[in-house]
Amino acid sequence: MAIKRLICVSTRGGAALHQQCGPLPGWDVCTVSTLREAGEVLAAQPYLVGLLLDLPGAGTTGELDQFLRRHCRMQWIGVPAPALLQDAAWRSLILDHLCDFHTPPLDRERLRHTLGHAHGWAELRSRGARTADDSIATIHGQSPAIAVLRAQIRKVASVNAPVLIWGESGSGKELAAHAVHAHSPRAKGPFVPINCGALPAGLIQSELFGHERGAFTGAARDKAGLIESAAGGTIFLDEIGDLPKESQSNLLRFLQERTILRVGATREIAVDARVIAASHINLKQAVAQGNFREDLYYRLNVFPIEVPPLRERKDDLPHLADLFFHQYAADKGAHVKGFSSHALRAMQRHDWPGNVRELINCVRRAMVLADGALITPADLNLPSPDIAAGVDGLADSRVRAERDAICVSLANAGKNVSRAARDLGVSRMTLYRLLAKHNITV
Ligand SMILES: Nc1ncnc2c1ncn2[C@@H]1O[C@H](COP(=O)(O)OP(=O)(O)OP(=O)(O)O)[C@@H](O)[C@H]1O
Ligand SMILES: [Mg+2]
Repeated sequence: MAIKRLICVSTRGGAALHQQCGPLPGWDVCTVSTLREAGEVLAAQPYLVGLLLDLPGAGTTGELDQFLRRHCRMQWIGVPAPALLQDAAWRSLILDHLCDFHTPPLDRERLRHTLGHAHGWAELRSRGARTADDSIATIHGQSPAIAVLRAQIRKVASVNAPVLIWGESGSGKELAAHAVHAHSPRAKGPFVPINCGALPAGLIQSELFGHERGAFTGAARDKAGLIESAAGGTIFLDEIGDLPKESQSNLLRFLQERTILRVGATREIAVDARVIAASHINLKQAVAQGNFREDLYYRLNVFPIEVPPLRERKDDLPHLADLFFHQYAADKGAHVKGFSSHALRAMQRHDWPGNVRELINCVRRAMVLADGALITPADLNLPSPDIAAGVDGLADSRVRAERDAICVSLANAGKNVSRAARDLGVSRMTLYRLLAKHNITV
């Protein structure tokens, strides 16, 4: 039976969970005592189901409401104090965010049934999301740099050895890691991402390698680690440079022996999981500075892959901008039809220190802010290329803007002149006249 993972927020710790719910066979439970801690755990690893064991008897709903909005893809079950059900704000929070609630004293059998049911739903939903993610695993772009990246990914995907991905922030490291997994024979197995920099230092050892019951205070039962949960698939260790030294040694042992030792255990467990690691810092430098184990670096660096920064593949900008424009089309005003040629030129001039992530943010913001049909450099918060290159005459700018608007409308209308004319707010005859004026053939 596959182990299901549950995160439980209980202000009174793991003992309260055991006391109220009894044993939860088949569940691997991570208990945290605050929403902040829960947020940290969830930022580093995905869970499908969460249990809010003791919703308070008083206080406001604000913090919990925000937390549940952030983690709305999970299924949440709550155990509210009965007094809360008298309060309208808490009632609507329960209705909005929880898939079920129980009141104390708990009917353990019913709780176990609800948890299983919630897990089943969440898994179905996440499978749907994963199919969408698979298309995200497509690395877009036709530039030579991206062609090299794709070729490297294809080559390393079929091998079982570790991969070390290096690239600037926001350049697409996680996307590349996902692509390696998706093209590998392990594609049907789990892809378990974990951000080594986001996990609290005290938790990382037991999160990665698991622990035995009683290994430390709060370890109420045995717990499998993330590496075990990636069995048959791939574990993606993001920001590996942040891994504490102790965990570096254990990871090295795993890479050499293919076995792990849970915290507090004496027996090794064999695990078949492929490791992909990523870092935005230069790990070789970290080795030289004594912050990263040299032997681990060489073990990981069997297949190094470098994701090129966006400024080295500016040929891809128009395509990527267009891709994100359509990906986030639901957020834009209906009048926004595309990018002006000025905006495209401004993008070419910008260096994109935040890489693709910066481009996505820039495009999304512009789509919301644009007043006109075409996004301008100002909407993108980029300097207009004209300012740098000398201002064109107003008449020239008008002509160019008119031509841009016509081209974009025609493209959006699938070259249907009647529809394009309607979008532009002119008659068909006027549009034909403008097509002739600008020498545009349909
Ligand atoms: N070539 C690409 N085609 C399409 N989308 C891309 C491409 N490269 C990156 N992205 C998108 O850009 C965003 C950032 O990519 P990703 O998270 O993989 O970068 P990262 O290098 O891991 O970033 P960070 O350093 O912040 O962790 C994601 O939404 C990703 O889908
Ligand atoms: Mg990343």
